[in-house]
Amino acid sequence: MTLILGIESSCDETAAAVVRDGRVVLSNIVASQHDLHGQYGGVVPEIASRAHLERISPVITEALDQANTDISRLDAVAVGNRPGLIGSLLVGVSAAKAIAWSANKPLIGVDHVRAHLHAAMLVPADQAQQAPAPTFPALGLVVSGGHTNLYLLHDQGRADLIGKTIDDAAGEAYDKAAVLLGLGFPGGPALDRFSKHGDPKSHKLPRSTLAPDSLDFSFSGLKTALLYSVRGKPTRRGKRAVFTRSHEDLTEQQRADLAAAFQASVVEVITLKLERAYKKLAAEAQAPRSLIIGGGVSANSLLRERAIKLGKRLDLPVHIPALSYCVDNAAMIAGYAHTRYTASERDGLDLAAVAVGTDMAAGR
Ligand code: KG4
Ligand code: ZN
Repeated sequence: MTLILGIESSCDETAAAVVRDGRVVLSNIVASQHDLHGQYGGVVPEIASRAHLERISPVITEALDQANTDISRLDAVAVGNRPGLIGSLLVGVSAAKAIAWSANKPLIGVDHVRAHLHAAMLVPADQAQQAPAPTFPALGLVVSGGHTNLYLLHDQGRADLIGKTIDDAAGEAYDKAAVLLGLGFPGGPALDRFSKHGDPKSHKLPRSTLAPDSLDFSFSGLKTALLYSVRGKPTRRGKRAVFTRSHEDLTEQQRADLAAAFQASVVEVITLKLERAYKKLAAEAQAPRSLIIGGGVSANSLLRERAIKLGKRLDLPVHIPALSYCVDNAAMIAGYAHTRYTASERDGLDLAAVAVGTDMAAGR
C-alpha cells in the first residue's frame, strides 16, 4: 500500500489530499478563494498567493486528519509545481519541501495539466472496488481555465500533445462569456446552469474548426460573436470601440438563449475535435482504446452528455472524473504522483515552481 500526500496551489484553490495506491481518495480538501476574487471578475495573483499562505497549513492538517493518518505514515509528498501563477505555486512547493525535508520523505513534483488526466481514475474510499483502469493508447482531453489540450496517451506516464488552443482556453472562454452575460465568477458553472433555460438554436454562433485536419482549437471568434450579439456592433470613437448596449438591456430569456447557443458551440467543437482526433489516430494505426477527459470544463453537463454519446458511437470507453475531481484539487496530484513514485522518480529539494508548463512533451 502506498500513501501519498498531494498539495495543489497553482491558481486560486488551496488543496491537499491523501490518496492510496494512486486511485483511492482518503481525503480531498479544497479551500476555494472564489469569494475573494469574485468582485474583480477574475483571479488576482497577489490576493491568491496571500490567501494560499494563510490556508495551506490548516488544509494539509485537515487532509491528514480526514485520512486518519499522519506525516510519518506517508510514502511520499507530491506537489503540483507547474504550470500556474508563480506566487501561488511557490506556496505549495515550499510547503511540500518543508514536509519532505523535515519528515525525510521523497518529494515528487507533478505537472498540473497532466494530473487533470488522472482525475478520472480516482474514487472515494467507499468505492475502492470500482476504480477505473483505462486501456491504452488513449485519447486524452484537458479542458480547463488555462488549457484546451488533446493528447495521445501511450500509457499512464507517457503522453504526446497532439492539439491545443491557439487563443483562449475553453474555460477562459466560458468565464469571459459569463462576464458578458452578467453571470458571476467563476463563469463556467454559472453559464452551464443558466443555459438550461435557453434555446441553443436561437442564435447561430460560429463553430471554429480550423483546417480540415487540424486538432487545434480556437474560441476567440466565438467570443467576439457573443460580444456583438450581447452589446451590438461597436462604433469607433478614436481608438476606442464603443458599444450601444450591455447585457442589462437584454431580457432574461434573451441572455439564456445566448448562453445556450454559446454552450452548444463550445461543446460541438470539442466533440468534433475528439472524433477528428480519434479518426486521425486510427488512420495512423494508433487507434485509441479509451477516451480520458479532465479539467474544470469536464464538469460541464452538456460536454459530459455528448462525450458519453460519442464514446457509444465510436465504441470507446469514456472516463470522465466525478464532479469533485474535475476542478482543481490535490487528489489528482497525489494520484498521478503514484505513477512517478512507482517508476522510482524523485525530485530534490531544488524542485522549482515553474509558471509555464512543459506541455507534457516529455510526459511528466
Ligand atoms: O481545472 P480548473 O479548475 O482550473 C485550471 O486548471 O484552469 O478549471 C477551471 C475552469 C474555469 O474556467 C471554470 O469556469 C470552468 O473550469 N468550469 C466550467 C464548469 N465548471 C468549471 N466550465 C463549463 N461548465 C462547467 N460546469
Ligand atoms: Zn486545473
